[in-house]
Amino acid sequence: MRYVVTGAAGFIGSQLGEALAAAGHGVVGVDCFTDSYDPAEKERNAAALDVSRIDLAEEPLDLDGVDGVFHLAAQAGVRSFGDVFPLYVRRNVLATQRVLEAAAAAGVRVVLASSSSIYGEAEAYPTPEDAEPRPISPYGITKLACEHLARAYAVGFGLDAVVLRYFTVYGPRQRPDMFFRRVCEALLAGTTFEIYGSGGQSRSFTYVGDAVEATVTAMERAPAGAVYNVGGGEEASMLEAIALLERISGRSLDTRRIDAARGDVARTKADVSRIRDALGWEPRTSLDDGLSAMWSWASGKVAAA
Ligand SMILES: NC(=O)c1ccc[n+]([C@@H]2O[C@H](COP(=O)([O-])OP(=O)(O)OC[C@H]3O[C@@H](n4cnc5c(N)ncnc54)[C@H](O)[C@@H]3O)[C@@H](O)[C@H]2O)c1
Repeated sequence: MRYVVTGAAGFIGSQLGEALAAAGHGVVGVDCFTDSYDPAEKERNAAALDVSRIDLAEEPLDLDGVDGVFHLAAQAGVRSFGDVFPLYVRRNVLATQRVLEAAAAAGVRVVLASSSSIYGEAEAYPTPEDAEPRPISPYGITKLACEHLARAYAVGFGLDAVVLRYFTVYGPRQRPDMFFRRVCEALLAGTTFEIYGSGGQSRSFTYVGDAVEATVTAMERAPAGAVYNVGGGEEASMLEAIALLERISGRSLDTRRIDAARGDVARTKADVSRIRDALGWEPRTSLDDGLSAMWSWASGKVAAA
């Protein structure tokens, strides 16, 4: 098969592209190397892939001869109030609308990367897909808008779209703004780590390899219109996760509490029974194993520098 992966220079997209190529598929990467974090890091992520520099918010996407689009390109991260909001609208809502338009015209399936952020403070834990979406961050609102756009293109133009709601993905190449990445870097540098709020916030942390596997399986086997949670099996609080990383690294983290970040929810916990029943996918990597892999990557990067 020949697949387009948007966001192919990013954390998840680069590893998805590599997995698809390893499975023998043709991969056309698309990314415009935004400055959401150091573009040089994105260049390194994409080193093994062929990536076209296309800004999806304004340039055309050629889907001739393509069997499916994995749409992961986005402005990610819940700290999305204030001046940065136009970037979220452009890179999420506008870019996604243009990808959906192109895919509908070409009759090509889209697997859309959405987020647990669409649930906000969820009405139930573990959270099933039919919980009422009530995002509390502008980011979550743009991701929910993308989901609604996919449905509108399905109804209006027969677009074949599948939505995946990822829950806090971690592992090698994690974005520098994300929690585990910042903890690893503080442990390596011996600097003080700022914990937002009490540290009691908890997440269904999802290992990147498991998320990639769910994403490929969804492209291959999900029914059109399906919406699935993709979440790790073990829930952990920030403080528990720090303790685990301290044990893995053999170092201790100096911490300082700062105000809770607006838009950050207190808890996420995925109900993954729908994707397990429909596609046979479930998370396989324990938090211990996943964090060990992440620590090896982060410490190896520092050693190489
Ligand atoms: N990492 C997580 O925990 C997580 C959780 C939930 C959902 N998601 C979603 O998964 C996807 C991938 O996330 P990630 O963590 O790998 O993020 P990332 O920032 O590492 O990757 C996104 C990539 O999209 C590219 N991009 C942004 N706007 C673009 C545009 N207009 N045209 C072309 N390329 C553009 C960026 O340059 C970047 O390389 C995103 O859609 C994100 O919203 C991620």
